[in-house]
Amino acid sequence: MNAPSLESQQRERIPTTVCASADEACTQLAAEIAELIHRNEQAGRNTVLGLATGSTPVRLYRELIRLHRETGLSFKRVITFNLDEYYGLPRTHPESYWRFMHEQLFSHLDIPAENVNVPDGSVARSDVFAWCRSYEERIRAAGGLDLQILGIGRTGHIGFNEPGSTRESRTRLVTLDGLTRRDAARDFLGEANVPRHAITMGVGTILDARSIVLLAWGEAKAAIIAQAVEQPPTEALPASFLQGHPRARFLIDRAAASALTRVRYPWLVGSIEWTAPRVRQSVVWLSQHVKKPVLKLLDEDYSEHGMADLLTERGPAYGLNIDVFNELQHTITGWPGGKPNADDSHRPERASPHPKRVVVFSPEPSHAVLGMGGTLRRLVDQGHDVTVICQTSGSLALPDEEALLAVDLVGELSGAFELSGGPAAGFAADVGRQLRAKAAFAGDTPEIRRLKGLVRRCEERAALAACGLGRERVRFADLAFYERGRYRQFRPDATDAAAVVAILRELRPHQIFATGDRDDPSSITAVCFDLIRRACAELQDEAWFAACRVWLYRGVETAWDAAEIDMAVPFSPRELEQKTQAIFHHQSQRSQTPVAAGLREPWQQAEQHNRGLASVYDALGLANYEAIEAFQRWRPASA
Ligand code: GLP
Repeated sequence: MNAPSLESQQRERIPTTVCASADEACTQLAAEIAELIHRNEQAGRNTVLGLATGSTPVRLYRELIRLHRETGLSFKRVITFNLDEYYGLPRTHPESYWRFMHEQLFSHLDIPAENVNVPDGSVARSDVFAWCRSYEERIRAAGGLDLQILGIGRTGHIGFNEPGSTRESRTRLVTLDGLTRRDAARDFLGEANVPRHAITMGVGTILDARSIVLLAWGEAKAAIIAQAVEQPPTEALPASFLQGHPRARFLIDRAAASALTRVRYPWLVGSIEWTAPRVRQSVVWLSQHVKKPVLKLLDEDYSEHGMADLLTERGPAYGLNIDVFNELQHTITGWPGGKPNADDSHRPERASPHPKRVVVFSPEPSHAVLGMGGTLRRLVDQGHDVTVICQTSGSLALPDEEALLAVDLVGELSGAFELSGGPAAGFAADVGRQLRAKAAFAGDTPEIRRLKGLVRRCEERAALAACGLGRERVRFADLAFYERGRYRQFRPDATDAAAVVAILRELRPHQIFATGDRDDPSSITAVCFDLIRRACAELQDEAWFAACRVWLYRGVETAWDAAEIDMAVPFSPRELEQKTQAIFHHQSQRSQTPVAAGLREPWQQAEQHNRGLASVYDALGLANYEAIEAFQRWRPASA
């Protein structure tokens, strides 16, 4: 665990502990909860817990279940109050928080049913006000919350207290923010199905808890965490109100901590050792902060922005600027697989061997094209032996209507060729019946999932063909953890790990491209990356693996910081257009409810990222390209 320096504690307005992983954080917190329950029990008291939903607390709940099963931790004297519930959903709805809590926690514990309290989303509108008051009353009658567990939404909401919620707010009916509804769209199979309202404990209700722990994992939460921790409290960011609480703290993983000043700009909050990556990071920051290209930074710019000691150690600015400029310049290459027969001493990738065997992992079909479609085409054009491995089938992300389209096509085909008795036609007809009989939001049968996975396969083949890869260059691993899992409930096991090891051992790549290293650990991308990480650890001692480089690419949700990039592959406007055309083949993945304002479609996000990075390079004083895809080198041994 990483302890903040005194200076960063001054900047951080709430105690924040950064753990190596979400698992480490959850093990620690579950042990604290067990201790609290034991202490209260010995004093003859109940323990009153405030609980949250979402992906974030799932690991904590798994650990509590483990403690219950393996150490006999009893929840008989525990009373729980959940933060919130979607309004308009009955308890039985697959997406109701009541159901979520029972599936993820309560059904696995010995907690008495009458001790469980979840806001009731089915209360009549006219009774909501009275119901909310009675919820508050019940919390008081139980003796108040001993401990409130929180996650955080990307709007900075806690519970469903969206921006604009006051510090004094109490349990009430609220309207959900657009971003919150978009984030829930995957669970509800489309944004249009996400309820518009919810019942939530208020900020004031939460602040009445005797202690509060907010959890956050993954890079997608980094920006909002940094604001909540370091900016003055404001209604625009409800989580920032936790700053005023005497016993509130944040427990986060490294990726969620990555935008904190102590991590991103450590030289601003204490003296640091000026390693090469730190120098690059700080000079890039300075250039962006004072809005000057790197080569135009002056001694004064350094000394006026807390970097005087860097100047003393490495100055003057002139030489320092040139060193960093050259480093950045050397990240740029049109040869992502290495340039054959060229001096590679300043290139990101080795010249030989050429061609290279390249394995590109795509957690779901579409991820690789979105994250590195331009680079894929380059690798193929430059003669490398590229194989794309789709780790999961992606069936969970295919809307029913798209599956029905496929069923219809098979029906038409078999009609046209009088094949209606054939097994494929029979299968499709079966799936069609199952789809039509399916209750709204119910999970898919294995047959439906199979067909959905096949639709995504076809889209992926078409998309990769547009990047120059023939169908023999695409493999579908259909990892079992995904096929038997649901969102938030993936449990990879030894079979999944062995499948990834087997692929790598067979293909013996010189280059691996992967993504998901900084994502929420319950996400598909993070689970898929973890399997690659484990495979690399297992293969480490094999001779071929020593000559293999692993490159990380980013999804469309988060962008690289320019200082972290080890390889930047630039594209012409024409090449960017080709990438966009390739993405179009993943037509089932288009946004379900496009709105006029803002970038919503995956291809728009990808374009924005690639163009944005080109502008960042331009502003640093490097060449002005149309678009850039970027990669970071990952060293398995040091991970
Ligand atoms: C929902 C819940 C919040 C939760 C947030 C983040 O909006 N009402 O309590 O903190 O989502 O969800 P996740 O943990 O899935 O990122």
